[in-house]
Amino acid sequence: MRYGYFDDKNREYVIDRPDVPVSWTNYLGVKDLCTVISHNAGGYTFYKSTEHHRVTRFRQNGIPLDRPGHYVYIRDDDTGEFWSISWQPVGKNFRRAKYTCRHGLSYSKFQCEYRDIEAEQLMFIPIEDDVELWDVKIKNKGRKKRNLSVFTYLEFSFHHVEIDNQNLQMSLYASGSNYKDGIIEYDFFYEPWTYHFFASNFKPDSYDCVRDTFIGDYRTENNPIAVEKGECSNSSELGGNHCGSLHKKITLKAGEEKRLIFMLGVGSREEKGYSIKKKYSSVRNVYYAFKDLKNYWKEKTSVFQCKTPHEGLNSMINTWTLYQAETCVVWSRFASFIETGGRVGLGYRDTSQDVMSVVHTNPEKTKYRIIQLLRGHTSKGYGLHLFDPAVFEPEENKLPGVKLPTVVPTPSPADIVHGMEDVCSDDALWLVASICEWVVENGDLTFFDTVIPYADKGEGTVYEHLTKILDFSAKYVGDDGICQGLRADWNDCLNLGGGETAMVSFMHHWALQIFIESAKELGRNEDVEKYTEIANKVKKACEEQLWDGEWYIRGFTKKGIKIGTNESEEGKIFLNAQSWAVYSDVASNERAIKCMDAVDKYLFSKYGLHLLWPAYSQPDDDIGYVTRVYKGIKENAAIFSHPNPWAVIAECKLGRGNRAMKFYDAILPYNQNDIIEIRQAEPYSYCQFIMGKDHSAHGRARHPWLTGSGGWFYTAATKYILGIRPTYKGLVIDPCIPSDWKSFSVKRKWRGAVYDIKVKNPDGVEKGVKSILVNGNTVKDLIPIQKTGTINKVEVVMG
Ligand code: GLC
Repeated sequence: MRYGYFDDKNREYVIDRPDVPVSWTNYLGVKDLCTVISHNAGGYTFYKSTEHHRVTRFRQNGIPLDRPGHYVYIRDDDTGEFWSISWQPVGKNFRRAKYTCRHGLSYSKFQCEYRDIEAEQLMFIPIEDDVELWDVKIKNKGRKKRNLSVFTYLEFSFHHVEIDNQNLQMSLYASGSNYKDGIIEYDFFYEPWTYHFFASNFKPDSYDCVRDTFIGDYRTENNPIAVEKGECSNSSELGGNHCGSLHKKITLKAGEEKRLIFMLGVGSREEKGYSIKKKYSSVRNVYYAFKDLKNYWKEKTSVFQCKTPHEGLNSMINTWTLYQAETCVVWSRFASFIETGGRVGLGYRDTSQDVMSVVHTNPEKTKYRIIQLLRGHTSKGYGLHLFDPAVFEPEENKLPGVKLPTVVPTPSPADIVHGMEDVCSDDALWLVASICEWVVENGDLTFFDTVIPYADKGEGTVYEHLTKILDFSAKYVGDDGICQGLRADWNDCLNLGGGETAMVSFMHHWALQIFIESAKELGRNEDVEKYTEIANKVKKACEEQLWDGEWYIRGFTKKGIKIGTNESEEGKIFLNAQSWAVYSDVASNERAIKCMDAVDKYLFSKYGLHLLWPAYSQPDDDIGYVTRVYKGIKENAAIFSHPNPWAVIAECKLGRGNRAMKFYDAILPYNQNDIIEIRQAEPYSYCQFIMGKDHSAHGRARHPWLTGSGGWFYTAATKYILGIRPTYKGLVIDPCIPSDWKSFSVKRKWRGAVYDIKVKNPDGVEKGVKSILVNGNTVKDLIPIQKTGTINKVEVVMG
């Protein structure tokens, strides 16, 4: 069965059956204000920080699903019947009322047709202003004149989410609401910068600022008393729970349409409310703000566009996977329906990886994230595993201090710089690749000379930061030369304290190679030599210590017991040890083929590759927490999505395009659109994991959006399957495709030039390039960097 479809022309996903069993979300906002919104208009808004500056409230993991939200109710004033434009909260029988939700790039549109009234609520956040706009259109499709009432509803949140959830003696008495000149203001009497407001482009007939007055006793958002009565009570109060409800009576002649604009903004009435109300009361300004947002995404998506015989790949790469990867970079990993604010900041490894995939579409934000991560990098060479970058921000970038009537310690850099006991062995290594990729993409070698302070003491150039990262991994190795696991590596659930990690040794080799390319470009010949020597040593240690006969082991426990060996009963083979052996160029060709064949044989399923096999069934704290996770869930032999693209990349390196596509296709959410009862989660977003074979709900996907799988699948598809990779010297074209692809094309913008690439595959090969023509001239293996402003025709023949 299905709940919706991809509308590729409009870059929208359309949900036409609203009773989806889980929330299918979208992200509004691209700068500082963000709303996470479901297909039922449930969700919440925050400004910059999900923890410190909440605008609206959300009851996470509650029943019914997704409450509260940003709702519009319509009431027929002649009959008293009412409904909402989004299916929820009123929830009319959708066989009689038609509901559609269109999730687009940074906007969502809710549409409803009921009793001859067609209504639409478009929600988005303009690039220029910190305000969420609701552009509401209501049309009378019938022949009779209709008298209607329109009501809005949203629930304000205390600005600090933990206090909002846990400390009602504070939150309920430190916030108040008032109404003046058509604007509802939610305020904190002691903290003016935390004001929010809600306004419209009309003079309301009534309003409510007090939540319980609008909803009524023993009622819910399904049947608010104000809507039932047809009028609000003009309530406001100091202290209590607050909402934003503006009410307007409208009359629609047959065929007539009316348009109402609502604005949820950050700031006080005086400071922002009046000017925003004035600006967006003009539907022309709303139109242009929406157009700007559309152009913003048009520009971004135009940096890489492909046309292949695979419609799912086209749709996901041209729109959805890029959108997911961008979302992770812009909002980090803690603003969703899974995590709603208490845990914030940057996960060192997560953000370092997220950055890598969108250096071409978001050079500014990725650079900013890299700098934040470097400020959280210590002079000893390791990164702070999870940290609040605000602590290291220059004063002018910080949110104003929060004065609270209770003492909450002010964090200082010294408090968050942790010692070796909390160091994850992989964290900072990712950043080496992110930084080098950023420079290759944007061509700014001077970035390596930028001086950035260390989190603990002193400062260094970006280049010096990189050498410290690589030296750290070279230093912290066991007697056999394999990297120490420290607190954990990529897999948080392996207990590597005192043990060793194959994955990080492979990663070290990978990062060294990437760094060496940059050192060469900078003419740092001594470093090229030094780090090549280290790389050779790492490779040798890996090949000597980690081969198990049919595949690579995953590491050693503190007691020296192998993890991921054929000798064990459970956890015999781990995906990452194979994909990374190949991706890092450590594995010899023979071993690479063997270990990736083992991946296909033992880890493949029709929903993707399992992280390990067989699942652990007995707690074993030497191996780690992974053995306490239920079988088939998360790190214990689920189909953990994030490592799947690494296997795709490994197959591409081996030139096996059919196999790479088999792995890509199995987990591609797009492919599950019509069997969505199994997956449940949204088909336009990768999820953190999918229940594995050993779980009764095999195939069910959980934790959408904020996972490294978006960015990595984007990289796997664009750079390895389609094979288009910028380097210091030029653009590499090295596709690895299914043998039945006859051709494909890509439009890639790079450093101001356009490369219009057509690839033909007349012999039906999976890899190999026979000839490349650039603007009619033959080039050998690389497309030289072309002049800014040029459009270049590239013809590639595989064979
Ligand atoms: C989660 C974490 C990530 C980790 C992964 C595997 O996704 O955010 O940092 O690598 O789990 O344990």
